[in-house]
Amino acid sequence: MSSNWTPVALSQDVLPGMAIPAHLQDQDLVVWRSATGRIAAWHDRCPHRGMRLSHGFVRGEFLSCIYHGWRYGEDGQCRKIPAHPELAPPAAIKVPRFAVCESAGVVWVAPEGETSEPVDLPGFRGFRSVAVNAAADQVARDVAGQGHLGGCDVVMLVQPLPGGDCGLHVLVADGCADAQLDALSHAIEALRRRLEQGVAA
Ligand code: FES
Repeated sequence: MSSNWTPVALSQDVLPGMAIPAHLQDQDLVVWRSATGRIAAWHDRCPHRGMRLSHGFVRGEFLSCIYHGWRYGEDGQCRKIPAHPELAPPAAIKVPRFAVCESAGVVWVAPEGETSEPVDLPGFRGFRSVAVNAAADQVARDVAGQGHLGGCDVVMLVQPLPGGDCGLHVLVADGCADAQLDALSHAIEALRRRLEQGVAA
């Protein structure tokens, strides 16, 4: 994966009809999935009065703001203002978007217009994301990349978060037995605690 792409969530955590908050560096995002499965990443701010769109709701292929119900289409364009149903919303009412793609069960985001191809991680799937109260650079040095944890082959992706914390997205090899997954969950929790104590993995 190009360094221009940042892992912001696992695909399994953004089901059809869901909108969740996420981050790209210090930028607040809403990541949402339409009823048909299309994924999107936008600025988490309604152009009307600034309400977080991650508090909004998905209806079909649209995301609606929770405050006054302005409805936005997949291109970020406002399509409906409920208080003025006869009005065609002006083209200027549009939510800024980010480039987004999914690979290996991970939602990746980059600045809009990113043209690089995502790196493939064949044989791995998203398993679990945890927030770590430790600096992303340090955690990346300690654990990022392919390794072995809880008896499973894993890939660990580190995401910088605002405030100096980071997200750790753990991918597991497709061949890992179901019986190992509980052990992997416990190992991830233990790893998180060690990282927060500054103990290298
Ligand atoms: S703040 Fe979003 S519709 Fe008013």
